[in-house]
Amino acid sequence: QALTPDQLKALVRTVPDFPQPGIQFRDITTLIGDGAGLSASVAHLAAMAREAGAQKIAGMEARGFIFGAAVAVQLGVGFVSVRKPGKLPVDVIGIDYDLEYGKDRLEMDPGAVSDGEQVVIVDDLIATGGTALAAVKLLRTAGARVDNALFVIDLPDLGGAERLAAAGVDVAALMD
Ligand code: PRP
Ligand code: HPA
Repeated sequence: QALTPDQLKALVRTVPDFPQPGIQFRDITTLIGDGAGLSASVAHLAAMAREAGAQKIAGMEARGFIFGAAVAVQLGVGFVSVRKPGKLPVDVIGIDYDLEYGKDRLEMDPGAVSDGEQVVIVDDLIATGGTALAAVKLLRTAGARVDNALFVIDLPDLGGAERLAAAGVDVAALMD
């Protein structure tokens, strides 16, 4: 928590050409491996989620689980797991979406949220916003209110925050 924004940013490792040529991969492995970095990230996200009136936190598999569940614990609210396909043992709602470097699908248990419940999305990174937008659509289909999405890292050149804003979701991140 004593870390400055610059110190936090310095904990993110950049790996060129992963997972394919031309992608500068911003890797949180080094950030979450640092105790002060992990706790400062979670503390900042939790403060923003509390401010947004979160009644539940939703996180996307897999990296969104790391920060999302930690934020939910800080607030004492429940966690909604938005999962990769075929993982949940119940009838799910699902949506296919485009990634910066491919395609994927997310699924959730429609019973994981109550009607009108204020759900705040937490993930490690927003790039094109495709993943977050898919999560917004699923959560809204399940009956939740989704007005805020929080990230450790925003890659602003990829336009994700604008895409979410167009869907009525306010985006905040700890660093660009
Ligand atoms: C990454 C990242 C975000 C998403 C961002 O997840 O954790 O969820 O991509 O990209 P977008 O804004 O263009 O959708 P990934 O699908 O690589 O899965 P992982 O968490 O299992 O590593
Ligand atoms: N880093 C990590 N995850 C990502 C990235 C990135 O640069 N782009 C899309 N998902």
